[in-house]
Amino acid sequence: MVAAGRSMAERWSLAGATALVTGGSKGIGHAIVEELAGFGARVHTCARNAAELEACRRRWEEKGLQVTVSVCDVSVRSDREDLMATVKDTFDGKLDILVNNAGQSLFKAAADCTGEDYASIMATNLESCFHLSQLAHPLLLASSTGGSVVHISSVAGFIGLPALAVYSMTKGAMNQLTRSLAAEWAHDGIRVNCVAPGGVRTDISNDRTIDPELVKKEMARLPMGRIAEPEEVASMVAFLCMPAASYMTGQVICVDGGRTIA
Ligand SMILES: NC(=O)c1ccc[n+]([C@@H]2O[C@H](COP(=O)([O-])OP(=O)(O)OC[C@H]3O[C@@H](n4cnc5c(N)ncnc54)[C@H](OP(=O)(O)O)[C@@H]3O)[C@@H](O)[C@H]2O)c1
Repeated sequence: MVAAGRSMAERWSLAGATALVTGGSKGIGHAIVEELAGFGARVHTCARNAAELEACRRRWEEKGLQVTVSVCDVSVRSDREDLMATVKDTFDGKLDILVNNAGQSLFKAAADCTGEDYASIMATNLESCFHLSQLAHPLLLASSTGGSVVHISSVAGFIGLPALAVYSMTKGAMNQLTRSLAAEWAHDGIRVNCVAPGGVRTDISNDRTIDPELVKKEMARLPMGRIAEPEEVASMVAFLCMPAASYMTGQVICVDGGRTIA
């Protein structure tokens, strides 16, 4: 859908859109679900913990948001296939928005990372992102407004941070996947973008295995002097999915309080 010629209300709305957001029970994914649903989208989300997911679903229902849920471990291929089959049924074969958000961090010296560590982080963060995009492609093609894919990477995909080598590799690859898919799918009317947050107040940033010295150093070189709230990332994701962003594709946008320019 091209923004030009449309009313302000149409350009800045997601009314009637359908969306899949992975990892919506907590943190950034939770805020993205609420932001997209708040702008009028019907959203499906997933996580591994069924009880937490169901508690979220009930709260969203009370708020009048249209959100459905299903359990899925995005690191498992068959779970991803089941998830997309559920999404296909839920939204009658059409998907307007895919947000690949679910991810895990690993704070560990590169020399100490095991083969299992490597395989687990790669499968959760990167393979899931590629495979879910592949699985969503026919559903996005069926979108009447043009599909939009948003990956959630990290500033760790741009800069070198100690004890984050494997995690950062997945995020750097997601940034490149964004450009590659955007070039390949532009002719299909599908836009592909990426949001790269800096530190965000979630369970990941509260991880007790993070070296407090690294946190202190990071805060000292952060121009805005504070980490982000999840809603500050979610608003950028919503923008990228709207008709207002109809000429945006292949971009990796840092939402990082200025960390990557300091
Ligand atoms: N927080 C930050 O500072 C920060 C900075 C840059 C980038 N990011 C990125 O932002 C994304 C979200 O991070 P967050 O901080 O919001 O994390 P979070 O608070 O830990 O939430 C992660 C969400 O993803 C789900 N999840 C995790 N592993 C999953 C799996 N294998 N399958 C399905 N769902 C899974 C979790 O639910 P279950 O545990 O129940 O599965 C939860 O809903 C990640 O990709 C992360 O790398 C975060």
